[in-house]
Amino acid sequence: GGEAHIEDFAFSFEGPFGTYDQMQLQRGLKVYTEVCSACHGLKYVPLRDLEALGYNEEQVIAYASQFEVFDDELDDFRTAVPTDHFPENNGVGAPDLSMMAKARAGFHGPYGTGLSQLFNGMGGAEYIASLLTGYTGETKTEAGATLYENTAFPGGWISMAPPLAGEDVDFDDGHANDLHHESADLAAFLMWTAEPKMMERKQAGFVGVFFLVVLSVLLYLVNKRLWYPIK
Ligand code: HEM
Repeated sequence: GGEAHIEDFAFSFEGPFGTYDQMQLQRGLKVYTEVCSACHGLKYVPLRDLEALGYNEEQVIAYASQFEVFDDELDDFRTAVPTDHFPENNGVGAPDLSMMAKARAGFHGPYGTGLSQLFNGMGGAEYIASLLTGYTGETKTEAGATLYENTAFPGGWISMAPPLAGEDVDFDDGHANDLHHESADLAAFLMWTAEPKMMERKQAGFVGVFFLVVLSVLLYLVNKRLWYPIK
């Protein structure tokens, strides 16, 4: 039990002007590919979307070719191509991670007011990063299953063994690969899989608000002009 502990990571995509850091997304993809994909899938994410991370067509084709997907028409497995999605993976009952950053919230309260989320955001990425860094090292066995104590997981005990220990992958850009950095990069990548169009959404919001402001000014002036002879 106890209160879950969520660390407030400072992500580049936070706030009204925040944007994804392409290099961080590439690092997160590498953690996902080399560690998480052993048990988890990303079945809602088209492989060709990786071009948004700065990869060219040949690189995406090469990346896709490491996966086998089931082709309904061939009625057989074949090498994945960019128009396929990342494979799903139900082997050990690990949940699909495509939408996980939006399915979980890191920030709550106080007392059901939602004020923390208003100021800090939903905190899905913070939850994931805190989960990966939140293992205490304590384990227990329940009904034959091993559970691992984790300060971010609701209830405090999760059936996923600590997937990262630090220095699990070597980053191509030479970035630090301690547990904290790997976790933040992975969480940023999963934020992108859950909301690949976040930048476009923020921009559309600004354009909308800008037009509403212009419209308000015009309406005010029209109002003044129309009522001028009467007032
Ligand atoms: C659950 C992330 C690697 C097995 C989860 C959850 C997340 C996650 C976010 C959901 C927790 C929740 O329900 O709130 C990751 C990441 C990994 C990784 C980012 C790589 C760094 C692995 C690996 C395995 C695994 C390698 C298998 C050996 C599981 C299982 C669950 C789970 C079985 C369900 C746990 C439960 O509900 O008690 N993982 N995972 N994961 N993961 Fe992973």
